[in-house]
Parts: sequence; structure tokens; C-alpha cells
Amino acid sequence: SPKSSDNINAPRSESNKDNPSNNKVQGITSTLLLAVFAAISGTSFHFGYATGVMNSPQGVIQIFIREIIHRRNSNSNPSESTITLIFSLAVSIFAVGGMIGGLCGGFLTDRLGRKGGMLLNNIISFIACILMFISKPRNSYELLIIGRFLIGLSCGYGSSVAPTYINEISPRRLRGTLGVVFQLGVVTFIFISQGISLNSVLGSTHTWHYALGLPIVFSIIQVILLFIVPESPKYLLLKKNDSKGAEKALRWFRKQSNVQEEITEMEEEQNNQQHSAGIISLFRTPIVRWALFITVFLQLSQQLSGINAVFYYSTVILQAAGFNKEIAEYTNLSLGGANILVTILSIFLMDRVGRRLLHLIGLGGMIITSLILFISLLLQSINVWNKISLAMTILFVCFFAIGPGSIPWLITAELFNQAYRVPASSIAVLVNWSANFAVGLGFKPLFTGALDKYTFLLFTGLLVIFFLLTFFFVPETKAKTVDNIYAELRTGQVWRRRFHIYHFNNENYNTEHQHSLTTI
Ligand code: GLC
Repeated sequence: SPKSSDNINAPRSESNKDNPSNNKVQGITSTLLLAVFAAISGTSFHFGYATGVMNSPQGVIQIFIREIIHRRNSNSNPSESTITLIFSLAVSIFAVGGMIGGLCGGFLTDRLGRKGGMLLNNIISFIACILMFISKPRNSYELLIIGRFLIGLSCGYGSSVAPTYINEISPRRLRGTLGVVFQLGVVTFIFISQGISLNSVLGSTHTWHYALGLPIVFSIIQVILLFIVPESPKYLLLKKNDSKGAEKALRWFRKQSNVQEEITEMEEEQNNQQHSAGIISLFRTPIVRWALFITVFLQLSQQLSGINAVFYYSTVILQAAGFNKEIAEYTNLSLGGANILVTILSIFLMDRVGRRLLHLIGLGGMIITSLILFISLLLQSINVWNKISLAMTILFVCFFAIGPGSIPWLITAELFNQAYRVPASSIAVLVNWSANFAVGLGFKPLFTGALDKYTFLLFTGLLVIFFLLTFFFVPETKAKTVDNIYAELRTGQVWRRRFHIYHFNNENYNTEHQHSLTTI
């Protein structure tokens, strides 16, 4: 548990390093890129792939389930609802695994290190791929369900450990740019899995298990790369007290021999840092509670925006808008394509425009597009409106990709210092995957039943709430140290400024800032 709850707020000297504008810009190196690629290969590739792969082969997998039950129950035919239930379980148990993996894996990240945690995680994804692959020859849908659970477990843990590692190895000014790469891996592999699992590729009656087993390659690639790339220097220095190791690792990442400036910055963090904190201690210190509150609602804003309602059920939505099944399926692919393109665009914007503004633009755009989508679904009998619903669905995804897709994943590591980063990320991942599970399970019954087309209005309402919360409470984290961010949270600068409780101009901002740094 923390040494003292005050320590977290203890300011460092207002040195040049604390001031983002004075920090020397570190560049992207080939070794750094290799390490980022290593981190996402066995985590976000699996995450995206497993999200998209069950979509197209739904029909053939349901036939497989039916035949097994038929054979086991002396040729009596199972009901449609039983088959749908077993299939839905296989799809959604992925998110249950995600919640558990995110919540429980944290201690591995601190005990074994970021690299050790990722290595171990590959054992789980490896077994998962084998189980899903052999489920067909062994005639067992149970193996498929267990495999989906295990791949979820691995992805949940991966979505906590990989962003943490990427954050810790990135130069401060490139944290956003490189942080988006995790989400780029997810969206690229959603798209690839949609292509691979088409009936004409690997999604037919005889081949679907190959599509499910194929990502074993991601685990193999990651294991090989992890033997090449070093452990996070911050972990080595701040958790293991291994300053030599940290320096060596940092030289490798930066491809330069003089890394003293960054090491000194880390050492300053060490002077202020607490021992490893557990999940409970996140709730003890007010400032950390604040940061946790922000992380949690940003994660919720990502999932309760309804993005996965679109990704899981775009075919259903577009059919409700009056399109035939074929067009609806192609639209699914274009949604994936648009998601990738705009995510790439956001890589260039993240460290220029900043997280706060991009998140606001994204949520704002999603509010408008979901509202127009709702109206166009209501008016779909008039021809032009179904084209509008198509355009709005695509724009909805584009606005998601500009900020809300990647920011919640990368900001968690930015909002917490070394002691709290891992437990906070466990909570963030738990919240994210739980909400993902709820939308996945709840959307279809709502859309085809109780709420009908008004379901989108529900998302619009939630988006408005998250927009306001972001506007009032989210600080800009771009290129800032955790201490800088906490100083802003502590003085209430972020929300006071929004509520106009007092006016800031450069002069009194500086006085306030200095004041906060000397009094907290
Ligand atoms: C984010 C979400 C994930 C979603 C994906 C779509 O990674 O966490 O649930 O499927 O974006 O792009």
C-alpha cells in the first residue's frame, strides 16, 4: 500500500523537465517501432480478430452445433432457440473472459514485468486457438466456447498490459501517437478477420475452424519479438530498482547513448513514488479517485456510444433501413475500412490537437450522426432517407475513430503514476469489457423489441452526458507529466475554468499554478 497518501500529491520541483514546452523532443526510432509492434502483435491483433471473426460464419457454425446435438440426442432435432443460445454464448463469453483477464492480470504486470506478463499471456492465447481449431474435428462446441473464453481472457489482459508497456517506452511527446497504434491493431484486425471469415475465403462449412485457429500465428510472432525487445525502462527503474538495466533499455529504444535526461526524470518520479498500490488504494486518495472517475467515464463513453452495436449488428440496422442483406454485408466491410483510415489520421492528430479536443469532436460528431440516423430510420419509407442512414452509419464510425476509439485506451496510463498505473488499468479494462458485453447482449433485443428505432436515441442521450462530462472534467494530458496533470486536477483548474468560477488569464494561471505546486 502507498507509503503516504500525501506523497501522490507531492510536487516535484518545477524544473524544466516538468514544463512540456521545455522538454527535448525525442524522435521515433526503428527499435521503438519494433517494440510497439511487438506489444500489439499478440494483444490488439487477437482483440480485433476475435471481435470480427464470428460474424460471417454464424450460419455454418450454427449448423455445426445443430449436428452435434442431433447426434448426441439420438437424432432428435434441437430447437432454433437452443442453437442460437449456444452460438450467442460462444460469441459473448469472449467479453466475459475480457473482464476477468483485465481485472485479474494486473498483478502479473507488476510481478513478472510488462514483457513477462505478455509472454505468459501468449500461453493462454495459444491454448485458446488450439481449442477453437480442434472443436470441429473433435465435434465439440464446448471446446469452441472454452476457446472463446480463453481468447477473451488473453485479450482482456492484453488490453491492459500492452498500452501500459507502450506508454512507458514512449517519449513523452509521442505517447499519443504511439498509443493510437494499439487501437490501429484492433481495427485493422477486425477488418482482416471479416475478410478471412467470408464464406469464399475460410468461412465455409469445411474451413471455419481454420479461420478461428489462424491467430495462433500472432502469439508466435509476439513470443519471438519479445525475446528481442527490452523490458520497459520505467518498470526496471521504478519497480526493480535496476538503474543499469533501465539505462541500457532506454539506450536501445532511443538509439542514443545519452539518455540521462530521461533517466533523471524517471528518478524524480521514483522519489515521489509509493510502493505498488492495490486496487483498493485507488479509492483512498482524493486526487487518484478523480483520475479514476475520469478514466471510468471515458471507458464508458467509448462503449456506451453504441459503437459495437454498429459493429456487431450493422447488417440488422441497415436491413431495418431498407437495404437488402448483400448491401448490408458490404457496408460492414466499408465500416471496417473507414475505421482504419480515420484511426490512421488520428495518429497524426493525437499529439498535435490533443486528447481532450479530439474526444470532444468525436463524441460531438457521434451525437449528431446518431440523431440523424434515428430520424432517418423513422422516415425510411421515403427513399432518400435510407441513403442518409447509410451515410450516417459510416460517419458515426468515422467520428468514433477520430478520438473515442483510441483515447480511453491510451489515457489511462497517462493519468496515473507508476504505483497506480496497473491497478487503474485493471479497473478501466473491467469497465470497458463489461459495457461491451452489456451492449452486445442488450442491443438486439432492444432494437428488435422494446425500444425499436428509439434505441439510437438512447445512445444519443448517453453521448450527450459523456460529452458534458468530458467538457467539464477531462484535462489535457498531451506531453504532460502525471504531476502536471494532478496539479491541474487538484486545483480544480479543469472544471473551474469550464464553470467560469474564476477567470484565467496567463498571469493568474501562472500564479495559481505555482501556488498549487507549493501548497499541495
Ligand atoms: C475499440 C473498442 C472495441 C471496438 C473497437 C472498434 O477498440 O474497445 O470494443 O470493437 O474499438 O473499432
